[in-house]
Amino acid sequence: SNSNLLFYLAAYLFGSIPFGLILAKVFAKVDIKSAGSGSIGATNVLRVVKQTNPSLAKKLGIATVILDALKGTAVLLVAMSLNTPIETLWAIAVLAVLGHCYSIYLGLEGGKGVATGLGVFVVLIPIPTLIGAIVWGFCAKVLKVSSLSSLLGLTGVVLSALIFNNGLEVGSNAPMYIIAFIIYYKHIPNIIRLVRGEEKKVI
Ligand code: G3P
Repeated sequence: SNSNLLFYLAAYLFGSIPFGLILAKVFAKVDIKSAGSGSIGATNVLRVVKQTNPSLAKKLGIATVILDALKGTAVLLVAMSLNTPIETLWAIAVLAVLGHCYSIYLGLEGGKGVATGLGVFVVLIPIPTLIGAIVWGFCAKVLKVSSLSSLLGLTGVVLSALIFNNGLEVGSNAPMYIIAFIIYYKHIPNIIRLVRGEEKKVI
């Protein structure tokens, strides 16, 4: 329907907003697309801004996670308040993550989808997301590698969603797999560096 199309458009356009890039540019006067990993997410904000302003880096990193997560959550919550069916909600979720990873404002470049994925998963599959977040927190503390922690946390979400069959009453797990696939796919450069033992720690 027309309202579905509006939600899809809103999800993609909202998801496309590169909050990390904007915050780093406005508050730290750095271009994170041409520094560090070149990604536009919280990790690269933290990594790049830390070089010049460590205390600001942490604040901007946290703000980036929150805003990148909320841009996925926001459209979903509006759609949910209007009794939108679950299949449509999952399509909104996929489009928000696609927007973050392939931003219309950045010539289809973008981030890796972890925070935005978190923002949509927490609404649609809250228990698996909580478990994934615990896995992420544990890995981040022990391994101190952002990308690996993200990948393991995501795997925790997917596996526990399958185990608990939580939120997947859509009849198919396809949208969850699509979101997970996008995030894994965007981490290929990280995975190559991890395998070679060349991946940087969080900073
Ligand atoms: O959330 C993105 C993180 O998993 C990796 O970011 O900048 O280290 O490639 P980065």
